[in-house]
Amino acid sequence: MIAPSLLSADFARLADEVQRIADADWVHVDVMDAHFVPNLTLGLPVVQAIQAVSPVPLDCHLMIEHPERWAPGYAEAGARNVTVHAEACTDPRAVARDLKAAGALAGLAIKPGTPLDTWLDVLPEFDTLLVMTVEPGFGGQSFMPEVLPKVREARRLVEAGHLQLFLEVDGGINADTIEQAAEAGADVFVAGSAVYGADDPARAIAALRAQAARAR
Ligand code: DX5
Ligand code: ZN
Repeated sequence: MIAPSLLSADFARLADEVQRIADADWVHVDVMDAHFVPNLTLGLPVVQAIQAVSPVPLDCHLMIEHPERWAPGYAEAGARNVTVHAEACTDPRAVARDLKAAGALAGLAIKPGTPLDTWLDVLPEFDTLLVMTVEPGFGGQSFMPEVLPKVREARRLVEAGHLQLFLEVDGGINADTIEQAAEAGADVFVAGSAVYGADDPARAIAALRAQAARAR
């Protein structure tokens, strides 16, 4: 699946910007609170407004503190997938249960320096594992191939039947990097600048999707 990130879209024209990626699988919405990450983007009222007009299901990536308090609201707003950061959670199992009770898929994200092992025991509660391939906070950064062993390990656990998860990669995904990520076992690819920076976002989505499918 290809999930274009609205972080690289024109924030003054979000309704038009989601129409430009109508053939994407998910639309990735980066929620940043200026505490968990240095940057500040948008919150629930804007997500509700996007949800009301988007032809594509929402994939909300919450880079915020206290996700247990705020995350369920995004599920209640109708997001298909809501991802919280492991580093910000005091009780990830409870967050996963609340998200699923509100009708969303539950995602757990880990930063580049966060080991996978620490979170293996809670992952059975989740539907999505988001492996950050840049430090969270900003679009347009360079892909970090050194995190791919975590994707490979998660894919191995899924193949062995120990986990059932979408494996999402986020950060620096473009025509030069998507094949490595797909080969490592990712199946959901967030792409901000590679889609919204392209002259034709629909063509960029199709090209990335074909590249990933070939590499897998
Ligand atoms: C970074 C965000 C990403 C970002 C990706 O903290 O989580 O979703 O939008 O942008 P690109 O694809 O430009 O690296
Ligand atoms: Zn993101």
